[in-house]
Amino acid sequence: MAEDRKSLIDGLNEDLAAEYQAVIMYRTYASLVSGPYRPELRAFFESEIPDELGHAAFLADKLVALGAVPTTTPAQVPTTQENRVMLENALRAEEETIERYTRRAQQAESAGEIAIKVQIEDIIVDESRHRDDLRRMLKDWK
Ligand SMILES: [Fe+2]
Ligand SMILES: [Fe+2]
Repeated sequence: MAEDRKSLIDGLNEDLAAEYQAVIMYRTYASLVSGPYRPELRAFFESEIPDELGHAAFLADKLVALGAVPTTTPAQVPTTQENRVMLENALRAEEETIERYTRRAQQAESAGEIAIKVQIEDIIVDESRHRDDLRRMLKDWK
């Protein structure tokens, strides 16, 4: 059980680094987008930030509750000047995030942390909506 708890804590810190990355990525891309669709793309990227910050807050609070220290280091943000590549980077990040949280929900269950499992499942609902929006935007993108 102690091993399960340790790997859950390590995993939640990895998730937190990725949420901070998402905040920085969406904030940076909102500023960088260009061309005739700049207003829409800027608003779209900005609209993702509150969800990701909420996820980060949940993870940081939960890490503290588990007696761990939350990371302050974000995962690396891929940079680009191209709108389409920004959307592709964001889609890849959301897909990887869903895979990570799916593993995390199983880990939480193994560690007997059912409330964490349920809250992570709620986060998966948010990330799936982000992924689906990005897929729709990239469909037929010239
Ligand atoms: Fe998130
Ligand atoms: Fe997301």
